[in-house]
Amino acid sequence: MANNDIIIFDTTLRDGEQSPGCSMNLSEKMMMTEILNEMKVDVIEAGFPAASEGDFKSVLEISKNSEYSVVAGLCRAMESDIDAVINSIKPAKRGRIHSFISTSPLHMKYKLQKTPEQVLELIEKSVSYAKAHCDDVEWSAEDATRTEDDFLCRAVETAINAGATTINIPDTVGYTIPEEYEALFKMLVNRVPNIDKAILSTHCHNDLGLGVANSIAGIQGGARQVECTINGIGERAGNAALEEIVMALRVRQDKLPYKTNIVTEKLCLASKKLSEVTGFNPQPNKAIVGANAFAHESGIHQDGMLKHSNTYEIMTPESVGQIKTDLVLGKHSGRNAFNDRLKTLGHALDQDNLNLAFAKFKTLADEKKDINDADLIGIVKSL
Ligand code: KIV
Ligand code: ZN
Repeated sequence: MANNDIIIFDTTLRDGEQSPGCSMNLSEKMMMTEILNEMKVDVIEAGFPAASEGDFKSVLEISKNSEYSVVAGLCRAMESDIDAVINSIKPAKRGRIHSFISTSPLHMKYKLQKTPEQVLELIEKSVSYAKAHCDDVEWSAEDATRTEDDFLCRAVETAINAGATTINIPDTVGYTIPEEYEALFKMLVNRVPNIDKAILSTHCHNDLGLGVANSIAGIQGGARQVECTINGIGERAGNAALEEIVMALRVRQDKLPYKTNIVTEKLCLASKKLSEVTGFNPQPNKAIVGANAFAHESGIHQDGMLKHSNTYEIMTPESVGQIKTDLVLGKHSGRNAFNDRLKTLGHALDQDNLNLAFAKFKTLADEKKDINDADLIGIVKSL
């Protein structure tokens, strides 16, 4: 792995599924597994096998059917949970045990009701147990961004000594900001003596709308794995959106010289399949995959687009699997885009008729939000 290669860890089927209304049945999860493999996601977090019979079965089936992607199962720091992951990832070509425990003072005191020393002991025990059964072990410090630096360093060092090869630093509550998250990774790189034996990972929630920005800052601080979900689904305000991170890295190579394996042309298909499964679409103005992500309505923008698409687009719709740029005809549209659409519909008008048709179009656009092709043909026929 080159030093600027970024591992994409998709947790749509685990953290994403935890978002209200997003639970998926087995066949829906299999459909998502297929597209995630086609898209060349490096790791699929398939579920939390100890959580339910259904989750166990899903991780088992995904393990049997994941040709390209590593299959990870999540577990708490306890043997019964770890056993459930071991048994469910058995058929996987490449499986991963992902164990987590909270490390912040708040979580340790109120949620776990354990002392920091007890938590360190549990990290050592659980990661060693997992390692005895699987070479690929990831450990997560839940609520890492509200954890004291000294304790986080000790916890990470303990997990690596016990055999963890990926260390995840989640912003569990979506609290951090980019500068701080980048510094947190740099602090770990500088202070944890065995840090070179593990890959650092981001895992950002979107409570302040900073999930993607924080993930990128984490990469700049030294992370080489990013945990994310399709359409950014996940607990509360969601997780960092896979499609946004991947395209930010691709479009801004000048400032972000990192590489992922993702087949970006499949991003919209993955988004659509997820919407089909969950029953809700991302908002129309959602970056990359939203219905309006490549739609232009203002006349000035449409005119620019017709002259050169780089005027108002920083990536092509084809590069993310959107069919084509959509010049939406409405009251803000200009004569150039109007004429262009008429020509596409097979109606090349002379100047006088074009003036007449354009005037009728503007009158109609004042009454109706979007003008469709049938409306345009109606205008031409009325001339
Ligand atoms: O947000 C979080 O902390 C998690 C961990 C279980 C990785 O989802
Ligand atoms: Zn999470």
